[in-house]
Amino acid sequence: MSKTARLDKLLGSLGYGSRAQIAQLARLGAITLDGQDLTDASRRIAVTPDLPARMTVDGEPVDPPPGLVILLNKPLGMTCSHKEDGALVYDVLPDRWRRRDPAISTIGRLDKETSGLLLMTDDGDLLHRAISPKKHVPKVYRATLARPLAGTEAALFASGEMLLENDDKPLKPAVMEVLSPTDARLTVTEGRYHMVRRMFAAVGNHVEALHRERFGALTIPDDLPPGAWRRLTPEDVDAIFAA
Ligand code: URA
Repeated sequence: MSKTARLDKLLGSLGYGSRAQIAQLARLGAITLDGQDLTDASRRIAVTPDLPARMTVDGEPVDPPPGLVILLNKPLGMTCSHKEDGALVYDVLPDRWRRRDPAISTIGRLDKETSGLLLMTDDGDLLHRAISPKKHVPKVYRATLARPLAGTEAALFASGEMLLENDDKPLKPAVMEVLSPTDARLTVTEGRYHMVRRMFAAVGNHVEALHRERFGALTIPDDLPPGAWRRLTPEDVDAIFAA
């Protein structure tokens, strides 16, 4: 059975304005459903994923209902935060999406100076499942290092016994593949603060560039340039947990 919501509550949660403003829009005939004017803002409607194909506000398809999942090809220099100064990852989204409730949040974070695959969602359950260490969702990073690899890193990272400074639990085993003397691909199943940078710092190296290539079985689509984003389908979302 689909969920229903009052029109004013639904559009309010999608950032279209206050209840009074939405009631006014409805009275003016600015909201349609299946081609008919919806003049009563208190009417309950079924909240289904196909709503944007059926409902218009001011002649435009209504924004997608809750359950959004977004893949951003994060460029360098953007911060995963709702309120810091400078360029934020949320700035790439349509203005109204930033007024949604539930709000759209990142699924984990990438540092300002890390690029690559970043997921965002307004679905709190999905967010918690995707970052839960119990789900073992692999995250794959490509790291460019300041100094050549020593050759001992892979065994230490895979040991399940590596303890990073200020942490009280050892890291879960991580898999490192050598791509060149100063390039490595690292697969981790946790999301600790500055984790990859701290892992290489702990072995006397320094990460000069870091890029996330994969989250679960999801990769960045070839036609999605840095700074561009795309909504994910339910099948894409399943791929988060399929790896
Ligand atoms: N590890 C880091 O050090 N930084 C990131 O952005 C992601 C993983």
